[in-house]
Amino acid sequence: MARSAFQVLAGFALLCCSAVRATQDHAVCNHLATIHGNETIQPTEASYEALSTENWSQTVWAKPACIIQPSSTEELASVVSTVVDWNVNFAVRSGGHSVVPGAANIEGGVLIDMSQFNTVDYDADKSVAVVGSGLRWKEVYTSLDPYNVTVVGGRVLEVGVGGLTLGGGLSYLADLYGFVCDNVVNYEVVTASGTVINANAESNQDLFWALKGGANNFGIVTKFTLKTYPLHDAWGGVRVYSLDALPQLMDAMYEYQSVGNKDPYANIMLQAFPTNASIGAILEIVYLKPEVEPEAFAPFRNITPLVDGTQLQTFTELMLNAPVPELTRVNWFSASFKTDKDLFTKVTDIVSNGPEIAQLTNLTAGSLAFGWQPISSSAILAGEANGGNALGLEPVNQTWLVLDVGWWNAEDDQLAHDYTASMISKVDDASQSSGHFVDYIFMNDAAADQPVIERYGAENVAKLKATAAKYDPDGVFQHLASGGFKLP
Ligand SMILES: Cc1cc2nc3c(=O)[nH]c(=O)nc-3n(C[C@H](O)[C@H](O)[C@H](O)COP(=O)(O)OP(=O)(O)OC[C@H]3O[C@@H](n4cnc5c(N)ncnc54)[C@H](O)[C@@H]3O)c2cc1C
Ligand SMILES: *[C@@H]1O[C@H](CO)[C@@H](O)[C@H](O)[C@H]1NC(C)=O
Ligand SMILES: *[C@@H]1O[C@H](CO)[C@@H](O)[C@H](O)[C@H]1NC(C)=O
Ligand SMILES: *[C@@H]1O[C@H](CO)[C@@H](O)[C@H](O)[C@H]1NC(C)=O
Ligand SMILES: *[C@@H]1O[C@H](CO)[C@@H](O)[C@H](O)[C@H]1NC(C)=O
Ligand SMILES: *[C@@H]1O[C@H](CO)[C@@H](O)[C@H](O)[C@H]1NC(C)=O
Ligand SMILES: *[C@@H]1O[C@H](CO)[C@@H](O)[C@H](O)[C@H]1NC(C)=O
Repeated sequence: MARSAFQVLAGFALLCCSAVRATQDHAVCNHLATIHGNETIQPTEASYEALSTENWSQTVWAKPACIIQPSSTEELASVVSTVVDWNVNFAVRSGGHSVVPGAANIEGGVLIDMSQFNTVDYDADKSVAVVGSGLRWKEVYTSLDPYNVTVVGGRVLEVGVGGLTLGGGLSYLADLYGFVCDNVVNYEVVTASGTVINANAESNQDLFWALKGGANNFGIVTKFTLKTYPLHDAWGGVRVYSLDALPQLMDAMYEYQSVGNKDPYANIMLQAFPTNASIGAILEIVYLKPEVEPEAFAPFRNITPLVDGTQLQTFTELMLNAPVPELTRVNWFSASFKTDKDLFTKVTDIVSNGPEIAQLTNLTAGSLAFGWQPISSSAILAGEANGGNALGLEPVNQTWLVLDVGWWNAEDDQLAHDYTASMISKVDDASQSSGHFVDYIFMNDAAADQPVIERYGAENVAKLKATAAKYDPDGVFQHLASGGFKLP
């Protein structure tokens, strides 16, 4: 009885005011608490504060009416049915590392925290691991290490499995096996109607394809079944250079990326800090075999680092040892382009000497890092061989550039956004005018207002929309869960 009264209120809320919405939120939280007692966290409870401020950037902290941590697929299905019945806004969170406000947290409404989906089950016979969507990559890798296998997963261990995988996912294993999404063989999904379905190459194939890059537009993923590969020992680590070495590093980067037959076991991520010469440039070198100084990294050999952390170590240790900056407020922007010497020089100049650098430095604790992520055509071809994904990538060698901006004060949010957006649009102009533009924006490195899914291409967008209409006919994941990268 009370429930139908609130459902009436819910309809009214759409027309009326936030006070009614808040009453409805409060009521659904009390209702959830009666059914899922210990899993519903109200604002008065001790753990609420830490959970509502998790994790990566203060720009996405928010105050949900309550946070629920379902611990089984059935419970999650019941929670989804309840919030949909009550017409309450909600958000879904895995590792909380998105910097998109509202994507994985919510002001009012219900935050569904997937952290109880935290198991890793390895099946050696099938060479797969079933991985809970609420895990961080660290738990995934360390659970598989005793078996000497790994998965195609994130490069920084505290990042979450759910968001990274649903956004495509860049891994050190990508040149060999494709992106993270390309190595999912089954998704267990709770749909908007509270139904549990599996999406794989045999059943619900359209959804299987759509989830490979389609983010939180179709349902909530509880578990991913990921392919495993034999890998334990590796070589590599971090080399730190002074910012003066940047021109040499970029020449080496060009050589590394344009070599005739790039070794797919070799990976590099260059991060430079043009606003902060005391950090300089950090090169993460990864070789997926225990071989010291393989030929693939020869272009970097004659550049003397300030610090050289390369060593033989396990692949997991290598990733654990990577430095992770601690920033208060963070945003990031992404651009993609083909390999070209002049363009590399031009882009480096834009992002390290442009007028925006002084503007960013002028903000309290304003900083910029640019990350240079080489992607080989082999990564895209491996994805196609696995049945394809929704990303709409052409199989060409390319770079995914990411600009990470950090700052301190909420009053500077807009300026930090605008200065960095200005640089990314200059990068796009440069690649467009030289004919090396790649029409793709990597979701996991993209700002909220970058047109990520639009760029998957008209045909893919149409397929994604048709799939959403089939599995979520009422558009719950567009309207009630409206945060994140939505279908255009
Ligand atoms: C230090 C750092 C390192 C990074 N390194 C990499 C990297 O190596 N490779 C890479 O690809 N990206 C990387 N990223 C980017 C990262 O992939 C994104 O920030 C991603 O959103 C993080 O996933 P998450 O689960 O932590 O995010 P969340 O913030 O929890 O979620 C992100 C989005 O996914 C949705 N979502 C999450 N879980 C589910 C689910 N189970 N079902 C449905 N929707 C869900 C959320 O609703 C939200 O919209 C890195 C980010 C940081 C901060
Ligand atoms: C709540 O209790 C159940 C049953 O005791 C348990 O399985 C579950 O993990 C608990 N949930 C949380 C979030 O602690
Ligand atoms: C993110 O949250 C996890 C889990 O609460 C915590 O262990 C970790 O220290 C947090 N990381 C940051 C950078 O706040
Ligand atoms: C993993 O590799 C190590 C070192 O090569 C070996 O000693 C160990 O037996 C392997 N473990 C398994 C489960 O294969
Ligand atoms: C990408 O580079 C590799 C060598 O590094 C080369 O073999 C391949 O042909 C290139 N791909 C394309 C599409 O040009
Ligand atoms: C530069 O980085 C160092 C080391 O992280 C930090 O201590 C310093 O405050 C930074 N300087 C500026 C101007 O941001
Ligand atoms: C830096 O900030 C000061 C004071 O707000 C302002 O006058 C100046 O123009 C700014 N400089 C840049 C490069 O933005």
